[in-house]
Amino acid sequence: METRRAVVRPRHPRGTEGVIIVKAVVWHGIGDIRLDDVPEPKVQEATDAIVRITTSAICGTDLHFVRGTMPGMAAGRILGHEAVGVVEEVGSGVRNFRPGDRVVVPSTVGCGSCSYCRAGYFAQCDRANPGGPQAGTVFFGGPEAAGGLDGLQAEYARVPYAHVGLVPLPDSVDDAQAVLLSDIYPTAWFGAKLAEVGTGDSVAIFGGGPVGQAAVACARLQGATRIILVDGLQDRLELAARQHAEVVDFNAEDPVVAIRDLTGGSGVDRVIDAVGVDAQRPAHGPAAEQADERAGQDRRESRQAAPESRPRGDTWVPGNAPSQAARWAVQAVAKAGTIGTVGVYPPQVETYPFGQAFMKNLTLKTGNCNHRAYLPHLVSLVATGALDPTPLVTRWPDPVDAIEAYASFDRRESGWAKVALEFGGEGGMPPGSGEHAGSGAATTAGGSRSTG
Ligand SMILES: NC(=O)c1ccc[n+]([C@@H]2O[C@H](COP(=O)([O-])OP(=O)(O)OC[C@H]3O[C@@H](n4cnc5c(N)ncnc54)[C@H](O)[C@@H]3O)[C@@H](O)[C@H]2O)c1
Ligand SMILES: [Zn+2]
Ligand SMILES: [Zn+2]
Repeated sequence: METRRAVVRPRHPRGTEGVIIVKAVVWHGIGDIRLDDVPEPKVQEATDAIVRITTSAICGTDLHFVRGTMPGMAAGRILGHEAVGVVEEVGSGVRNFRPGDRVVVPSTVGCGSCSYCRAGYFAQCDRANPGGPQAGTVFFGGPEAAGGLDGLQAEYARVPYAHVGLVPLPDSVDDAQAVLLSDIYPTAWFGAKLAEVGTGDSVAIFGGGPVGQAAVACARLQGATRIILVDGLQDRLELAARQHAEVVDFNAEDPVVAIRDLTGGSGVDRVIDAVGVDAQRPAHGPAAEQADERAGQDRRESRQAAPESRPRGDTWVPGNAPSQAARWAVQAVAKAGTIGTVGVYPPQVETYPFGQAFMKNLTLKTGNCNHRAYLPHLVSLVATGALDPTPLVTRWPDPVDAIEAYASFDRRESGWAKVALEFGGEGGMPPGSGEHAGSGAATTAGGSRSTG
């Protein structure tokens, strides 16, 4: 097959038979991930590209695989679905990218030609999954059912359907900004769309991880007037407060009572669930009592959500109340309101407070983000200075410390909200070098890079 190759490439050690060895974060089992040497990926199909990753990131979704709340991973799978890089090589079917182009990689993979992709439902592509049209969303570094594709926490990655699956980056957008456009901001944007956020709406966001934080800016840009963010961790509440969200600590207040109080008794018009299956039960405060009464039910739901888990002390521990965020969402939303759920629930989870939702005439929307649909618009928002994701990256460990970084992020240690791995190499744009980097536009969080 005819391919085009970049002339400049970093030096890497050669293994047996001249195979080039690169570093990657590899899943070996639940509770067992390692930084391994792996062979460099190759172009396999005409529409493939090989991308040299300059910056990748660790996501809350990766944690589900290590905690055991998302089944079906194969040992040896490279993790990661968020990356920025430089095109190294393209197959003969890729006419719109060439070696040397700087790109951001959307987390999900779509063919771009089937009826679903053409309607913008890239996460429901009929052709990308080798298992067939009903097999589910394809994304990098996920379970076998999600296409069995190696991930992006690596020095090099193979991107299928690259003519659709790469988005070009202008030099006004640096790596730190762009890596948050791979998954986090598109998901948050999609979450606000699912929740039907519009002008004047009051919106509650459950979960102050990166997705919930990004949802503050996305809801605001889509017209929300009141934005209330609920979490139980002080540093994440502080990050949201710096974005001028109204914050509720579920370990100090009952979030449903607080949200009703803040909205004159009605509840919020819209809710974005940015927690998902690894939801925690409140440990203190007035909501903890009610939660304690449900402890048995929570345990049953946890066993269903994570039939297998291998915690090491306080690391890789699945959430202890899988339906907690869903239940609060249904209670806190106004009658006839809308809930957009982007927090991940795996297929084995079957509990949802459906009867309560029914009685309130709620609209419920959910699913995997169609990243490719929103990414070009988000790149434009960052390039023009309307949105600056910079403040959300809170840690930059060296990729050699990736496994420890996973553990710190998993334990939700203070300051470890969003972890980016800088693989370096030629063509990356260092944090802060973007034209509007550090402005905090739309996030208005102020401050930018802190080192880890
Ligand atoms: N739908 C998609 O396409 C898509 C894409 C990306 C991420 N996700 C999912 O979005 C979710 C959030 O991702 P993230 O990277 O921000 O993860 P994260 O694990 O960093 O954040 C989750 C946050 O929720 C908080 N939380 C826990 N229990 C809670 C509760 N009962 N109420 C309120 N907050 C609670 C935690 O303290 C944490 O801050 C994950 O489930 C992830 O898998 C979905
Ligand atoms: Zn992600
Ligand atoms: Zn398709």
